[in-house]
Amino acid sequence: MTKQALLPKRERVSIDLGDRSYAIDIGSGLLDAAESYAQLPAAHSAMIVTNETVAPLYAQRLERALSSSYARIHTVCLPDGETHKTWESLNLIFDALLSHGCDRKTVMFALGGGVVGDMTGFAAASYMRGVPFVQVPTTLLAQVDSSVGGKTAINHPLGKNMIGAFYQPQRVLCDLDTLTTLPARELSAGLAEVIKYGPIADMAFFDWIEGNMEALTARDPGALAHAVKRSCEIKAWVVGQDEREAGLRAILNFGHTFGHAIEAGMGYGTWLHGEAVGCGMVMAARLSQLLGGVDVAFVERLTRLVQAAGLPTVAPVLDAHDNLGRYLALMRVDKKSEAGEIKFVVIDRPGSAVVRSAPDALVAQVIADSVPA
Ligand code: NAD
Ligand code: GLY
Repeated sequence: MTKQALLPKRERVSIDLGDRSYAIDIGSGLLDAAESYAQLPAAHSAMIVTNETVAPLYAQRLERALSSSYARIHTVCLPDGETHKTWESLNLIFDALLSHGCDRKTVMFALGGGVVGDMTGFAAASYMRGVPFVQVPTTLLAQVDSSVGGKTAINHPLGKNMIGAFYQPQRVLCDLDTLTTLPARELSAGLAEVIKYGPIADMAFFDWIEGNMEALTARDPGALAHAVKRSCEIKAWVVGQDEREAGLRAILNFGHTFGHAIEAGMGYGTWLHGEAVGCGMVMAARLSQLLGGVDVAFVERLTRLVQAAGLPTVAPVLDAHDNLGRYLALMRVDKKSEAGEIKFVVIDRPGSAVVRSAPDALVAQVIADSVPA
């Protein structure tokens, strides 16, 4: 067998950001292959950031693969969960970097889902005013969305992802094999972000997801590979035009205004981010219908697809006495809000989205129609 034949099968999507451009590699067997880490910035040391769930599954394998590129490899293991996306966890990363004498060239590796990825990116953006980092996403959500595009953050008790920075990784390495150990509920959460790309940008992809939802939930490797690749292509296309969300990039937040209110209102970690986004997309589609962008058949189609992904489509009551008031208060904290005015991503025609405000009466109708009767 030739050396070439031993290389893992990989596909590459490029994100074009001038001198901050990088590759998103997608394939099977990438984690263990030393080739995956070729041409990253040279350094004496590497710092792997992971969590207590992912570490026993994949940390040793990453350490082994990195050993041909770095003389010293350290690993810091964070507590697992959205509730730990905090200053305290961030400080654990800084403690590890400083106590191991990591310098400005140290390359950081985020091994885990979006929580680990967002925190590692923020730590990399600020440690010694910026060190290189690599995303090694191990959840579907992180492979199709959070590892790409350079949004990094931690949560604040008053709002999700409120403290952070735009900071691009040097590379994203999506090893599809890691998805085999992902709990079913987490796989569904990732499918929410896959579905999202259809209504906002690519109805042909939406058709494909509909036709392949069974294969996706059954973790068919070919279906997952296509879903990750097409999602990354769409995200790379959007971020390539609007890295810092001056306009277009906000469409990637379809379903997130309602979704973030659900996540925060229920308490971080009660509803998974993807679950809240799934339900939030149905709510945003209802709002789009009331604003004339789509018809009821479209809303029903999206609702069926979200349900088929195993995601909730009935919104929770966040306050038994003033549910609308609670939703509005939480949605005002959204980063898209301007001078207290809530902004929504709505579909203006299938495959195209815009960001706009909406009359309170329509928002109230959506919320009333979305919670249990
Ligand atoms: P997560 O990081 O909490 O991971 C989900 C769970 O799966 C965790 O318990 C994790 O330990 C576990 N896990 C990870 N990989 C595993 C594997 N291969 N096998 C078994 N278990 C595994 O959640 P997530 O859904 O990956 O990410 C959600 C976070 O991403 C949120 O904080 C959200 O705000 C953020 N996000 C960021 C962006 C962005 O652009 N930066 C985009 C979307 C979401
Ligand atoms: N997930 C939204 C964004 O990256 O902009």
